[in-house]
Amino acid sequence: MSKIVIANWKLNPATAKEAKQLAKGSDMADLIVCPPFQFLEDVAGVIKKAKLGAQDLFWEDKGAFTGEISGTQLRDAGVEYVIIGHSERRKNLGETDEMVAKKIFAAFNDGLKPILCVGESQEERDRNKTNEVVERELRAGLSRVLAEKRDIIIAYEPVWAIGTGNPDTPENMLEMVRFIKDLLKRIGSQLTVRIIYGGSIKSDNAERFLQHKEIEGALVGGASLTRGEIQKIVEIAKKYK
Ligand code: 13P
Repeated sequence: MSKIVIANWKLNPATAKEAKQLAKGSDMADLIVCPPFQFLEDVAGVIKKAKLGAQDLFWEDKGAFTGEISGTQLRDAGVEYVIIGHSERRKNLGETDEMVAKKIFAAFNDGLKPILCVGESQEERDRNKTNEVVERELRAGLSRVLAEKRDIIIAYEPVWAIGTGNPDTPENMLEMVRFIKDLLKRIGSQLTVRIIYGGSIKSDNAERFLQHKEIEGALVGGASLTRGEIQKIVEIAKKYK
């Protein structure tokens, strides 16, 4: 199966015009583009080969939830994938494991493919809590969907590696892949899981990760906004189908 590259634009760019330009330049198969909600429809109108993803969703489908967006609305905008539980939301917006679990459940209900993000902070790593944190986030996040025979992407994104220019090592990631697969077996998961890495991936380090068949893709933040970078990363991913 081919590898997946996911471009998480986060809160960028500033205008629809720039979003469309960025999307045009990144329109490649095996790429999932995740713009801000505001630009989903603009990007959907431009991409032909790439798939569309959102950066979050709310767990209720309608009602009095000011500022939220539902899976149904995302589907209507052409979205297929949705990032859930990104560490920036956990850290800056107080998103809890319970909220993440509800969102994963909602994504499946609404026919979206979830991309669940997990990973430890620097402080947790320093205290040797990496596996404990990832286990807690996975057990909680997947608690409502373990019996589902459906596809999910799990992105291991150590918080200390995000936006720092200091990625984890492929060796650590391979160990993490083994740990996650073993955990999913232990908790009786029926999900079909693909495990990808995120955190300071750029075109000059992507190959070190993607050359391993166990690392099934990359979640890319900053580099997805730099001209030419995401194209190079997708080309590298293609070499290791
Ligand atoms: P960077 O690639 O900028 O480190 O961000 C990673 C990330 O958070 C993607 O979701």
